[in-house]
Amino acid sequence: MTSECPVPIDVQAGGLPVGLPETMATLRIHEFGAPPRLDRVPLPEAGPDEVLVRLAASVVGHHDLTIAAGTFVVRPSLPYIPGLEGAGHIARIGTEVDPDAFAIGAAVRVYGGGLGAARPGTWAEYVVASGRAVTAVPESLDPVVAAACGSVALTAWTAAIELGALQRAERLGVTGASGAVGSLVVQLAALHDAKSVVAWVRTADKARLLPAGVELVTGDDPVEPVDLLVDTVGGPLLAKRLGAVRPGGRAVLVGYTAGEEVSFSLPALMAADVSLLPLNMMRRRPPKGLEASLVGDFAAGRLHVGIEAVQGHDVLEAIARLQRGAVSGRVVLEW
Ligand SMILES: NC(=O)c1ccc[n+]([C@@H]2O[C@H](COP(=O)([O-])OP(=O)(O)OC[C@H]3O[C@@H](n4cnc5c(N)ncnc54)[C@H](OP(=O)(O)O)[C@@H]3O)[C@@H](O)[C@H]2O)c1
Repeated sequence: MTSECPVPIDVQAGGLPVGLPETMATLRIHEFGAPPRLDRVPLPEAGPDEVLVRLAASVVGHHDLTIAAGTFVVRPSLPYIPGLEGAGHIARIGTEVDPDAFAIGAAVRVYGGGLGAARPGTWAEYVVASGRAVTAVPESLDPVVAAACGSVALTAWTAAIELGALQRAERLGVTGASGAVGSLVVQLAALHDAKSVVAWVRTADKARLLPAGVELVTGDDPVEPVDLLVDTVGGPLLAKRLGAVRPGGRAVLVGYTAGEEVSFSLPALMAADVSLLPLNMMRRRPPKGLEASLVGDFAAGRLHVGIEAVQGHDVLEAIARLQRGAVSGRVVLEW
């Protein structure tokens, strides 16, 4: 990859396009398992029911790296443009798109609809998305935050509120609480008036990422039993943390950053009567309007996510740091 920055934005201060270029800069995967290359490709055309978005920020996430490694169930045809998620301004709309719903120059985020897997993704200056993958965001919201906030907040909400069915007076436990999903589970629990929250983190310095009042635990010290565990780290730690769930409680399994394998005593699990609930966001359809509502919480300062913003020439180092678990929060590529 070259060290030059991608081309300048062709959007005026008010967000209106001043003419579209014929080509765009993009990061493309040419070989599974190999780093992306900075390429210049023709500007994509929006179909009748699609929207062309000039991206200002694109997320580089765990899932992007799994697809780029070639180990995900969907293997895009090479070369392909990764990127499940991003934010920017609408540059063009298809002939069948409602112009009242998607105005040229409006601030939006894009996510879903096969972006970065079944169709070209957001690691580019422009992306074409179907209308259902486009969500309006407040103009005041920094595009870097608009890009970073959506999928992790949807995952956290689905894990804790929908699948985990967290109730007001309940006590919650969260592993990987300093991570993007984990910290949002903690914040959502506070917004839902959970009784108390136990946050397992690797090091005490991660406390700065969490709201006041959270019980921070760094080791295997015993804790008061929790009603609901949201586990984002998996591996052998899951077996240990299950011991903190009260009999009859629930445990939602979100991720396995600490390992893919775990063993535990089935008699002990059955005696405790803890329900294990695996989360698969690919199969979930969050309620209509939820994404916009959560984005509104970020714009209003009620939710926060850690972000490392990088320029194109730094993306390889950022990917390496993400792969070795050295990033706290989300990596966002700025165009
Ligand atoms: N099930 C689904 O549908 C779904 C959807 C979205 C995401 N996910 C998965 O959820 C997981 C978390 O995502 P994220 O965006 O929150 O990731 P993240 O921001 O990278 O956070 C990862 C967290 O795991 C902790 N961690 C990493 N390795 C660990 C280890 N060996 N022992 C203990 N803690 C460890 C990190 O602690 P430090 O801060 O100390 O490094 C951090 O708190 C990922 O595996 C992701 O793929 C699943």
